[in-house]
Amino acid sequence: MYFPSCTLLLFLILTTQHFIPSHSENCNPDDKKALLQIKQQFGNPTKLSSWDPTTDCCNSTWLGVDCDNFTPTYRVIDLDLSDLDLPKPVSIPPSITNLSSLSLLFLTRIPNLVGPIPQSISKLNNLRYLSITQTNISGEIPEILSQIKTLVTITLSNNKLTGPLPATLSTIPSLAGIAFEGNQLTGTIPESYGSFPKLFTGLLLSRNRLSGKIPASLGKLNLADVWLSQNAFEGDASMFFKSNISTLTILLAKNSFSFDIGKVGLSKDLNALDLRNNKIYGVLPEGLSNLRFLHKLNVSYNNLCGQIPQLRFDETCYAHNKCLCGSPLPACKI
Ligand SMILES: *[C@@H]1O[C@H](CO)[C@@H](O)[C@H](O)[C@H]1NC(C)=O
Ligand SMILES: *[C@@H]1O[C@H](CO)[C@@H](O)[C@H](O)[C@H]1NC(C)=O
Ligand SMILES: *[C@@H]1O[C@H](CO)[C@@H](O)[C@H](O)[C@H]1NC(C)=O
Ligand SMILES: *[C@@H]1O[C@H](CO)[C@@H](O)[C@H](O)[C@H]1NC(C)=O
Ligand SMILES: *[C@@H]1O[C@H](CO)[C@@H](O)[C@H](O)[C@H]1NC(C)=O
Repeated sequence: MYFPSCTLLLFLILTTQHFIPSHSENCNPDDKKALLQIKQQFGNPTKLSSWDPTTDCCNSTWLGVDCDNFTPTYRVIDLDLSDLDLPKPVSIPPSITNLSSLSLLFLTRIPNLVGPIPQSISKLNNLRYLSITQTNISGEIPEILSQIKTLVTITLSNNKLTGPLPATLSTIPSLAGIAFEGNQLTGTIPESYGSFPKLFTGLLLSRNRLSGKIPASLGKLNLADVWLSQNAFEGDASMFFKSNISTLTILLAKNSFSFDIGKVGLSKDLNALDLRNNKIYGVLPEGLSNLRFLHKLNVSYNNLCGQIPQLRFDETCYAHNKCLCGSPLPACKI
């Protein structure tokens, strides 16, 4: 094998650099090909006119495209597209799964994006942030997402997704949160969700058709945000109330939860607690008045009783309970 001397190597580098044409581009040719296919599969929307085949896809002129400029590879790592006015309904472009270095995929507010999430999405084995929101995509959330071991957040809010919560998502080792609000998901929260990894903090499932009891195993999680409002959940939700972790929001409104609120722990960081329209009973914990960041509280339409702690919320936040009393409701009868 022939090894060039240092001088020769330097000479080669200098001369090749000299001949680099002024229009040279960093964009990886496979990525560029995939992007141009994506544009075509979207029906060439006017918003993507900056995706010009004669220019460099990595020089910040291609809308929503970002490359990894810290390495010499210049692979497309972010694709962030929003408010695309597609000429006709189309499915998620299959060529997206050819952007093999993709770390972030955001598709936001695309009304004409329809059909299911393709199984081939599992080919994106560097994907960390997946977000498809406010589109008309339908079908089930694919179990196969759990094969993407790099995923950190999965956001699929405000679409037309149906079917169950995939039980295997809890096997994704770096998953920090799932946000599936505003779909038509059915079934219960899988027992396996109690074994999400340590850094899992966001369980956002409001406005679906989920039902049944919350598995007690979820008490093992350190959730910062629990959003379960507007489903058909029932039974106990006290496992979400813990004094020794940092919980910011607990939104359980409009379900059939039934548990004793008087016995729960309270995170000192709690800033929103929405329990309205459930069957929650007991006395409101005194500790609520010590929560410095609590700016939203609504416990109306439950079966609560007893003295309201000293707080600054209006009477609509306490109305329609069994026997809550004291300011801002009428005084308690002793
Ligand atoms: C990107 O490439 C196009 C075409 O080569 C060029 O006109 C434009 O100036 C470049 N922009 C940047 C920011 O380099
Ligand atoms: C993805 O890449 C493969 C290999 O480069 C190619 O054969 C295929 O047509 C591409 N698929 C799509 C959907 O672009
Ligand atoms: C779904 O499609 C309908 C009809 O095109 C449209 O009015 C609606 O805004 C779409 N929904 C979303 C979330 O984009
Ligand atoms: C919080 O307290 C519970 C019960 O006392 C305990 O099992 C859990 O490990 C504690 N969590 C943290 C993060 O300290
Ligand atoms: C509390 O919830 C009730 C019932 O949904 C609602 O009527 C009321 O406006 C809410 N209060 C506040 C301050 O949001």
